[in-house]
Amino acid sequence: MNNKLSNVSKWKLTTMKHYNALAKGYNELYGEEQKLKINFILKELDLGEKNIILDIGCGTCILFESIYNKDRTLIGIDISEKILREGWRKFKGKSNIMLVQADADHLPFRNKIFDTIFTITLIQNLPNPKATLQEIKRVSKKGALIIATGLKRKYEIKEFASIFEEITIKKIYDIENLYDYILYGVV
Ligand SMILES: C[S@@+](CC[C@H](N)C(=O)[O-])C[C@H]1O[C@@H](n2cnc3c(N)ncnc32)[C@H](O)[C@@H]1O
Repeated sequence: MNNKLSNVSKWKLTTMKHYNALAKGYNELYGEEQKLKINFILKELDLGEKNIILDIGCGTCILFESIYNKDRTLIGIDISEKILREGWRKFKGKSNIMLVQADADHLPFRNKIFDTIFTITLIQNLPNPKATLQEIKRVSKKGALIIATGLKRKYEIKEFASIFEEITIKKIYDIENLYDYILYGVV
């Protein structure tokens, strides 16, 4: 058997360990910063009848704290088990929230099932963001709304937008007090 990990697997293992180690302190370190981004996103967005929502790289479920209601099914995936446990603590006993440990590049869902997908401050963690977008497209229904954010210190706005060039970009924002660009697109 070949026990050597590919560079991609090593990358993901390192990322997973990084977020496992950060998990307990994540909310304290980044909670306010992430909430600012999420508040901006939600002001621009009418989730209305969108009842099944996927958050890729959901972390400690800061998004779900803002959009939870009993009629919605919220599905979060993240590569870090420990960070998911922090999220799970917030929603103990709520049967309409599902948290799954999985890789954004291998989503454990069949084709074309989601009509709203969020991915907040995730994309810089992926070795090949355009390949990740293909996977996001695979699980999206036609016309699905994609809301993605990306760290400004990692990307120029054009570079960030180019990751999403295979979907229709409706709006992209560079807001002064936010650390991420905010992109709204449609598949
Ligand atoms: C900066 S945090 C953002 C978390 C959350 N979206 C928020 O707004 O607080 C990035 C998250 O992406 C997750 N992540 C990194 N690589 C991933 C991958 N390949 N698949 C799924 N999740 C991943 C990390 O474990 C971490 O929880």
